[in-house]
Amino acid sequence: MSDHPIGGEYIVVKALENGVTIIGLTRGRDTKFHHSEKLDKGEIMVAQFTEHTSAIKIRGRVEVLTKNGKIRSDD
Ligand code: TRP
Repeated sequence: MSDHPIGGEYIVVKALENGVTIIGLTRGRDTKFHHSEKLDKGEIMVAQFTEHTSAIKIRGRVEVLTKNGKIRSDD
């Protein structure tokens, strides 16, 4: 797939409303917020999980594409 140490999969998040927030959570024993991004309706973010980020939290209505499939948050 790739030689990235973590995996290198990309995910795609599309905002379905204004003011969506994507928050990056740290990898490892501690789980802390380390970055956040705001998206407005129609904006798309393409992102990768890395040695620094093992999870993300999304607030707001979005569509998320991953290799596992496509999911839409509820209204
Ligand atoms: N620091 C945690 C870890 O690296 C972050 C994390 C990953 C997490 N998956 C999670 C936190 C699921 C809550 C729920 O494992």
